[in-house]
Amino acid sequence: MRTLTVSLPGRSYDILIGSGLLSQAAEYLRPVLPRAKKLFVVTDSNVAPIYLSALIPGLERAGFETACREIPAGEGSKSAAMLSALWEDMMDFGLTRTDAVVALGGGVVGDLAGFAAATILRGVDFVQIPTTLLAQVDSSVGGKVAVDLAHGKNLAGAFWQPKVVLMDPDTLDTLDDRTFADGMAEVIKYGCILDRSFFDFLALRPGRGDIMEEIEHVLYTCCDLKRMVVEEDERDTGRRMLLNFGHTVGHAFEKMGNYETWTHGQAVAAGMCVAVRLGLALGVGCTGDDLQALTKLLQAFDLPVHIPCSDAEWPVMAETIGLDKKGAGDSVSLILLEEMGRAKAVKMKKAEVLSQLSALYGRT
Ligand code: NAD
Ligand code: GLY
Repeated sequence: MRTLTVSLPGRSYDILIGSGLLSQAAEYLRPVLPRAKKLFVVTDSNVAPIYLSALIPGLERAGFETACREIPAGEGSKSAAMLSALWEDMMDFGLTRTDAVVALGGGVVGDLAGFAAATILRGVDFVQIPTTLLAQVDSSVGGKVAVDLAHGKNLAGAFWQPKVVLMDPDTLDTLDDRTFADGMAEVIKYGCILDRSFFDFLALRPGRGDIMEEIEHVLYTCCDLKRMVVEEDERDTGRRMLLNFGHTVGHAFEKMGNYETWTHGQAVAAGMCVAVRLGLALGVGCTGDDLQALTKLLQAFDLPVHIPCSDAEWPVMAETIGLDKKGAGDSVSLILLEEMGRAKAVKMKKAEVLSQLSALYGRT
């Protein structure tokens, strides 16, 4: 098993990575939840039938009383209505301020359960047991929890750090290839923005089987990189924004496709390619070789490296990345690559970004 500690004033916690951790969860929960009697477990309709039976008996044997709430799988459950339903269920269960919430699932379960934990009874302890690659390398670490609103994704939320994160890489075996590839987009992102040698390591392992052979190292490296960023900038006012590499244009792609055509990982993959092309056009440092290496690696996981943008979709692109007149100020910060393994935020005039993007898309 490998362990990392996220060090934050008064709310440090460990990330444990190891095969079989799911069934041994109680052993690692008890020390960080010394006064908890009840655990409210949130999971989803895909994860529950596969993994609840590995988790719950051990918790009960360790003396925890458990209640499970199974939400329908999918982003639609990350809603204010579902949050409110969880609050009521927690009260029905008799949850007290010394008890805790456990999130067993992907990023949807983690974000929703985490926000419920942050808000019920003005905040109770919370444990992350992420079961997708994206949740293991990204969403379970760093304390961002949220639900979506009609106005957009993650608009109501909090910073609420977990007490411990338990990652069992065996749970990744049951992911479909597309969900695995979604996580790979974020894995590759870490190499691009923070660690050239990790990018090179991934480039030598261009397939799911290759990655799974080294999965503990992959999870450890990604979580360690995120740990460093979060320790420096927990509240996302500076360096943490680097994690948005590929996400600004990626969000536009997701929105253009009504959140149905492209998954988040696919949109981020193509968004990272746009960001590198923009960097090339602006001469910030990255090279054509970097673009080629990124393209090759993304394609190895069936991730898109170009998403078209029609005339009809162009206003959505412009609006989403803050280029329309409604966006605040006349500048926008984009995350660009100075070189493979090193990213920086570049503040640009919106008009300049618009003209560069127009050129990339062959619009005149
Ligand atoms: P998800 O939670 O919807 O999971 C994807 C699919 O995989 C779902 O159908 C789920 O039921 C299924 N699944 C989960 N674990 C499985 C397993 N082990 N075997 C088989 N199927 C399994 O999506 P996700 O990609 O994990 O997370 C996306 C969410 O994470 C988004 O809501 C996004 O906004 C959020 N997010 C949050 C942060 C953060 O810092 N909090 C960061 C990135 C993304
Ligand atoms: N996923 C981006 C962040 O945690 O800041």
